[in-house]
Amino acid sequence: MADNTSLGTAKRAKNDEFYTQFNDINAEMNAYVEFNPDVFRDKTILLPCDDPEWSNFTKYFATNFERFGLKKLISTSYAKGAGNRQLTLFESKSPLYDEKLHKTHGKLFMQTRGEDGNGIKFKGYLKGDGDFRSAEVCKLRDEADIIITNPPFSMFREFLAWILEAEKKFIIIGSKNAITYKEVFPFLKSNQIWLGHGFLGGNAYFRIAPEDAREFAHGVYDESAGLVKFRNVGWFTNIDHGKRHEPLELDTMAHNLKFNKKLKKKLLDDFGIKEYPRYDNYDAIEVPFTECIPSDYKPCWFVCEHAAACEYAENKGMGNAAAPCEACPANDAERAGAITDRQTTSCRLH
Ligand SMILES: C[S@@+](CC[C@H](N)C(=O)[O-])C[C@H]1O[C@@H](n2cnc3c(N)ncnc32)[C@H](O)[C@@H]1O
Repeated sequence: MADNTSLGTAKRAKNDEFYTQFNDINAEMNAYVEFNPDVFRDKTILLPCDDPEWSNFTKYFATNFERFGLKKLISTSYAKGAGNRQLTLFESKSPLYDEKLHKTHGKLFMQTRGEDGNGIKFKGYLKGDGDFRSAEVCKLRDEADIIITNPPFSMFREFLAWILEAEKKFIIIGSKNAITYKEVFPFLKSNQIWLGHGFLGGNAYFRIAPEDAREFAHGVYDESAGLVKFRNVGWFTNIDHGKRHEPLELDTMAHNLKFNKKLKKKLLDDFGIKEYPRYDNYDAIEVPFTECIPSDYKPCWFVCEHAAACEYAENKGMGNAAAPCEACPANDAERAGAITDRQTTSCRLH
């Protein structure tokens, strides 16, 4: 039993070791800074799953500490993360380095305005393994204004709840499947959280440690670059950015079907028809691209980078999924699947 448990823990830890690229972080943060140049000014930022040896979040915010006018940057690492498999320069050069604690304890890194002039510093070991749920990391969370990271994919719900219970601002990465989780959707619907600016072309590439390389489906792992591709990953946030305010210019269904070559190709390739497919299980149409939502077909709600929910949405509390409207009785799984796979499902208003 003990063996199985540790095997499970090891497997899960391995599956959570995906590292965000510097350029992706830069592109996302630019969206908030362009919208509000003072978004990070005088703020304390916590990066709670971030060992500086691996995390570009730590590198990015340490590099931009002055430019953003940060008050404090806190980065904590998790003892079971990839960062702990190697001795970091940050740690080894520090008088606080302790070989025994290195293996089992989380680490604390910090940069404070006026105190740590030259970049982020190793401030010693946490009492425990650096689990974000531990009392000591909760205390750091409570001290922070904004929490930013790519959390363990397997713990997204718990991680978001951990942020929301402390009523903090955040910018985090997660699977877009999370849109339909019952722990997430109500917050999207009520506009308390929304999607961030997003990854270029909707594709997110994450770095993995070479020893974590394993069997991936064809085209998912690029061994030479050490990058794994995810198509259904996005940013979640409660901080405003410009893309949310770009008006959507929509055309009618007839015009889309007549003039939009991308739409026509997609419908023919995927469904073999030249019309918006209708769902069998409820009165809804499939809209493969946001810009193809027909202006003469009112969605109950849709989720994309532009808007979290529309005023017609009526969530009937259907478990994991959004309930498009009362007259659309799909079961949870079907509805979740439809909305998850096709980010722009729209449903006619009855
Ligand atoms: C998806 S990786 C992202 C790492 C880094 N934030 C980045 O974006 O490059 C998630 C990280 O969270 C760490 N982690 C897993 N469980 C954790 C926990 N309970 N508390 C804190 N960190 C955890 C993993 O070791 C892993 O390094």
